[in-house]
Amino acid sequence: TSTYVPYKVKDIALAEWGRKEIRLAEAEMPGLMALRAEYGPSKPLAGARIAGCLHMTIQTAVLIETLVELGADVTWSSCNIFSTQDHAAAAIAAAGIPVYAWKGMNEEEFNWCIEQTLFFGEDRQPLNMILDDGGDLTNMVFDVYPELIGGIKGLSEETTTGVHRLYERMKNGTLHLPAINVNDSVTKSKFDNKYGCRESLVDAIRRATDLMLAGKVAVVAGYGDVGKGSAESLRGAGCRVLVTEIDPICALQAAMDGYEVLPMDEAVTRANIFVTATGNIGIIKDRHFRAMRDKSVVCNIGHFDNEIDMAWLNETYGQTKSQIKPQVDMYEVDGKEIIVLAEGRLVNLGCAMGHPSFVMSCSFSNQTLAQLELWTNADKYENKVYVLPKVLDEKVAALHLSHVGAKLEPLAQDQADYIGVQVSGPFKSELYRY
Ligand code: NAI
Repeated sequence: TSTYVPYKVKDIALAEWGRKEIRLAEAEMPGLMALRAEYGPSKPLAGARIAGCLHMTIQTAVLIETLVELGADVTWSSCNIFSTQDHAAAAIAAAGIPVYAWKGMNEEEFNWCIEQTLFFGEDRQPLNMILDDGGDLTNMVFDVYPELIGGIKGLSEETTTGVHRLYERMKNGTLHLPAINVNDSVTKSKFDNKYGCRESLVDAIRRATDLMLAGKVAVVAGYGDVGKGSAESLRGAGCRVLVTEIDPICALQAAMDGYEVLPMDEAVTRANIFVTATGNIGIIKDRHFRAMRDKSVVCNIGHFDNEIDMAWLNETYGQTKSQIKPQVDMYEVDGKEIIVLAEGRLVNLGCAMGHPSFVMSCSFSNQTLAQLELWTNADKYENKVYVLPKVLDEKVAALHLSHVGAKLEPLAQDQADYIGVQVSGPFKSELYRY
């Protein structure tokens, strides 16, 4: 156990600005505020020591303070080296919450930060809950600090890629804790991944490049939830959008949504803007870079930077790399200039401010409910991956309706009987896909 470092952020003087933005965000996060009102007084998370590893943004600050208001002790790191908003981290540190995060750290510092979150306070009490985004904290505990597993009640995981890692572990028999897959709550993946990226992708490309998007040809690799939002984001900006897919169902969806669907090798010579959104590896590699047009913009909105073969690019053309500004680099590949955003790491958090608060309120309400459930009902769960029950998913949605002026149609008893549901929900079967 390391010595106690109370926090490490870029500049604590940014706390006041961070606090002002947190206050604005709270007004856009009705789900989290309702959970504070409902559970704040009874402090059901008392005794929980939650280590969190999730992009240290303004929205995450509201999540952290919700967990604290529900009674938890919390430590925090960011799950990406570029995603921290330094004013948010400063505000959290100033509130006395141990946070280890700054924008533009290196890989070694990244691991150091996660490590600091494992032990709490001067007396170095170990964590007893994990809240993760992408699985790096979970992997560190399982693979490097297995002696801590026995004291931990469970973990909740935010994103598609992290959830994928958990199911792999369950299959291989190396999942050592009960886990709640937050991503596959409908009010997470069908909102954050889709509507979040619909707002934050183009925002990132604009902040990074100031490029006129109207009239450009963009290719989106992957037409899952993130790809659907990303393609719509670009179309809304006036791009003609091409889509690549391996799955015939998603390919057909893309075609019927009005996009041209084709392999990357064909798209590559036509596009000006490249966005990977697959959660898979090697989507844009050597032959694609070589075939690209001059001044192509290349970025990734999936969780890890291996969707774009940055290793090859840096090895082969690293000496041509020149920084235009932080998180915007130009490479010269076979005489053509290629612009790479956020070093291939998720662009909406690297080059912009991530998703807006309102949609993160949906995601983080699920996170809060997952932590509550695992902390208060751990005995009900085996070392498997679970999703939250549909009634809670519906509850999260319900908490966000009035903020957007939406009013539900009341369901009459005879109608409920006719379609075979309870008046209080759940309103759909588990098979329903939304
Ligand atoms: P998803 O599974 O819904 O979609 C991925 C799609 O990519 C699938 O339809 C799959 O068939 C397709 N695909 C796989 N290999 C491909 C290939 N070689 N070429 C073309 N398409 C291919 O996953 P989701 O939820 O859309 O997430 C994608 C990634 O984005 C994950 O890494 C996830 O963790 C991350 N994510 C990022 C967010 C952000 O704010 N930047 C928000 C939410 C998720």
